[in-house]
Amino acid sequence: MTIPFAEFKSQYAALKPELDAALQSVLEAGWFVLGEQGKAFEQEFGAWLNIGSPVIGGGGGASVIGVANGTDAIALALRALGVGQGDEVITTPMTAFPTAAAIRQIGAIPVFADVQADTLCLDPQKALAKIGPKTKAIVPVHLYGQAVDLGPLLECGIPILEDCAQSHGTRWRGQLTGTLGKIATFSFYPTKNLGAYGDGGAVATGDPALAAMVRSLRNYGEGTQRYEHLSEGVNSRLDEIQAAILRVKLRHLDVSLARRRELATLYRQLLRGVELPVETDYSHNTWHLYVVRTTPEKRNALRQHLTERGVGTQIHYPIPQNRQPALAHLGQQDTCPIADAEAERILSLPLYPELTDEQIAYIAEQVTAFF
Ligand SMILES: Cc1ncc(COP(=O)(O)O)c(C=O)c1O
Repeated sequence: MTIPFAEFKSQYAALKPELDAALQSVLEAGWFVLGEQGKAFEQEFGAWLNIGSPVIGGGGGASVIGVANGTDAIALALRALGVGQGDEVITTPMTAFPTAAAIRQIGAIPVFADVQADTLCLDPQKALAKIGPKTKAIVPVHLYGQAVDLGPLLECGIPILEDCAQSHGTRWRGQLTGTLGKIATFSFYPTKNLGAYGDGGAVATGDPALAAMVRSLRNYGEGTQRYEHLSEGVNSRLDEIQAAILRVKLRHLDVSLARRRELATLYRQLLRGVELPVETDYSHNTWHLYVVRTTPEKRNALRQHLTERGVGTQIHYPIPQNRQPALAHLGQQDTCPIADAEAERILSLPLYPELTDEQIAYIAEQVTAFF
C-alpha cells in the first residue's frame, strides 16, 4: 500500500461538481481580486466562527478579513495591534517558521518561551515569565489542532494574537479558537483543516477598529477613497478563485473535522509501541496533525521503516524556531530545552479526512511491527 503524507486528488474527486461550478462562476464573472466571492467567504467564515463562539475576545461578533496567506495574516494583525520595529512578541519555538518570520517581517523581535512537554504547545507560565517592558503581544499557536491552555494568557493584559493556522474548529473550554484573543489569524494553505488550492489566509477579530485597520493594510493602506493611502500598507489579498474554493470547502468543514477525530480515535485504538498524542481536558482537538513520539534513535529508524513500506511521514518540526540559522542573531538558541528534546522524538503520521479506515489500520500495523 502507498499512503502519501498528504494528498488532494481524492478530495477534489469527492467535491468535483461543486468545485468545478465554483471555479467556473469566478471565470464567468470575470473579476479576480476583491470581489463578491471574497466578501461572501469573509461573511460565511465569520458566521461559522460566531455560531461556534458568539462571545469574541474583543467584544461583538468576529469580522473576517481575507488575506494572501497565513504569514501575512500574522504580520498584518500585529501591525494593527500597533506592534513594530524593536517591539517584543512572545511566541513558541514549536511552530512553523512563518510564525517567527511574520514577527520579523515587521521588524519586531520574537521572544521564544518553551513548550509544555505533554502537548508541545506554548507553556503559558513560561510565556508570562518572559513579559518585559518591550512586550507588545503574545502569539500562542494552537499546534497540531490542539488548543493552547489560554486561561492565564487571556488575563495578563497583553494583547493575544491566536495563530490558528492549524486549529480551524479546535475548541478551548468549549469556545472556538480564533475567538478568544484580541485578534486571530488563519492559514488556508492546502494541507490545513480548511485548505484552498493555493495560498490563502485570514484575520479574525471582534474589534471593529482592528478589523478596519487590517482591511486597509492588506490593500496598500487604502482608505475609503480610491487611490488615497492612509498608511504604508501592502498587497495581501485573498483572490476570488481561492475564496470560491474555500466557500465550497467551508460547507464540508464540520464533516471533515469529525472524520479527522474518527481517524485519530482509530489510531489510538490500533497503535502500539509509540507514545500517543494527548487530548487535554481544556482542548477539543481537531487533529490537524497526528504526532507520535519515541526515542530519537527509534524515531529515525521508524521513519525509514515506514518509508520503505509506502507510508509518508513528516516531522513538525525538526528544528525549534529559536534554533533556526536565520534567527541566530537573536541569541536565543539555548532558551527552550523541552522543545529541543522533543524535536528529536516526534513523528507525524498521515491524517487527512480522505484516508480510509483500512489505510489507518495498515499504518498502525507497520508501526506495531517495527516495535
Ligand atoms: C502555525 C503556523 N503559522 C503560520 C503559518 C503560515 O501560513 P501560510 O503558509 O499560509 O503563510 C503556518 C503554515 O505554514 C503554520 O503552520
